[in-house]
Amino acid sequence: MRISIIVAASENNVIGRDGSIPWHLPDDLKYFRKKTEGHPVIMGRKNFESIVKALGKPLPNRENIIVTRESTYEADDCEIASSLEEAIMYGHKDNDKEEIFIIGGGEIYKQAMELSNYLYLTRVHAWIAGDVVFPEIDPEVWEEVEREEHPADTKHKFAFTYITYKRKNRLHFEV
Ligand SMILES: NC(=O)c1ccc[n+]([C@@H]2O[C@H](COP(=O)([O-])OP(=O)(O)OC[C@H]3O[C@@H](n4cnc5c(N)ncnc54)[C@H](OP(=O)(O)O)[C@@H]3O)[C@@H](O)[C@H]2O)c1
Repeated sequence: MRISIIVAASENNVIGRDGSIPWHLPDDLKYFRKKTEGHPVIMGRKNFESIVKALGKPLPNRENIIVTRESTYEADDCEIASSLEEAIMYGHKDNDKEEIFIIGGGEIYKQAMELSNYLYLTRVHAWIAGDVVFPEIDPEVWEEVEREEHPADTKHKFAFTYITYKRKNRLHFEV
């Protein structure tokens, strides 16, 4: 089973500021859509609300699974889970060969590092001020298996690199 984190982080590991993402990189958004479309996506309640604020709806063509401690939380067309482990079980319930994506934000990523075996990082080549960060990627745990550069251009203020990491050891988590 593949449990994948997907994230974009600056050189100083910033991923968010004031409830949203502090850059606009259209090709990275396309990459995110291409990777995650058709798959379950797991997100923290705060990330979910920032997506709805931006799009006016949950992410289309994906099963949206929201993690919250609020037992009465409701959102149309979404699954609600009371822990990340429960969210992963929901994601696997129809197809255990499925790739599931954990799409943030910061609190959820911190917990997901122990529970994931793939990590798709878009490293944004800039130092950005922010209030939410991604954890350090431990080279003892994660090995890089692929990378592709994207230059800055008129639509992209910063250059960035898509980097794929794979966990070196087996996951201990089983569903
Ligand atoms: N750059 C990127 O790739 C990227 C991607 C995603 C998000 N972001 C950014 O990240 C920021 C949001 O991240 P965040 O850390 O503030 O919030 P978050 O991780 O999106 O959501 C936190 C919430 O998730 C719930 N939660 C967390 N752990 C839980 C657990 N173990 N069990 C049950 N519920 C749990 C809680 O919801 P309740 O309070 O409802 O209980 C908590 O308040 C935004 O700025 C967003 O734009 C960036």
